[in-house]
Amino acid sequence: MSNRNKRIAPLLITIDGPAGAGKTTVSRTLATRLGFLYVDTGALYRAVAFEAVSRGVDTENDDELDRLASGLDLKFVHADEGGRLLSCGKDISDAIRTPRIAMLASAVSARPSVRRALLDVQKRMGAEKAAVFEGRDMGTVVFPDADVKFFLTAELAARARRRFDEYGDAKDQRFEDVLEDMRRRDENDSTRALAPLRAAPDAIIIDSTDMNPEAVVDAMAAHVYSKHG
Ligand code: DC
Repeated sequence: MSNRNKRIAPLLITIDGPAGAGKTTVSRTLATRLGFLYVDTGALYRAVAFEAVSRGVDTENDDELDRLASGLDLKFVHADEGGRLLSCGKDISDAIRTPRIAMLASAVSARPSVRRALLDVQKRMGAEKAAVFEGRDMGTVVFPDADVKFFLTAELAARARRRFDEYGDAKDQRFEDVLEDMRRRDENDSTRALAPLRAAPDAIIIDSTDMNPEAVVDAMAAHVYSKHG
């Protein structure tokens, strides 16, 4: 595209949407194309879930969760293969990518103590702008004044198929299980009382069911440059 790598002012861009819509690939590629930082906020909720399991914290107990979430030192560092997440100095990027941690992240993300603790972390990370933030409530709650907001979605079956294919040969779930997990996570994430998954009123909605990631990034970049180029 003609606008590829054209210089642009530091903007804060948010990309929200359900699991499996392609947010991670698209957010990372868009950030690289614009020369911006990429922040995967789902990884922060996964980190809380992972640390709760590792430390034997009762995820039904709000006081325990509060102590855990507010005491965690979470940092993204850059690496050749993309960002790595450090929790108290330990690289947990791979350990948080399991179906069990995904489901537990969805559960702990409904707890006020966890959302409160991670809200501060995310706001600090966004202070410098020039960033693409990916999550569920970026455009609605964390950065309501973001410069550009996208909501990326796709039909449930297409999202489950992509997630199933990502597991590659290491699959220990059937397609039907992945579909059911995703349906439950959609329901948890969009019906919780606090910061539920939904498009901000001023978000641009993109349905990626029949689009490849490159086409989605092109559409997003075209919009960013038309508004701010
Ligand atoms: O994007 P992900 O699958 O890694 O996110 C894991 C869970 O974290 C997701 O089911 C809901 C929660 N989450 C959230 O509540 N708010 C965000 N901004 C990002 C993720």
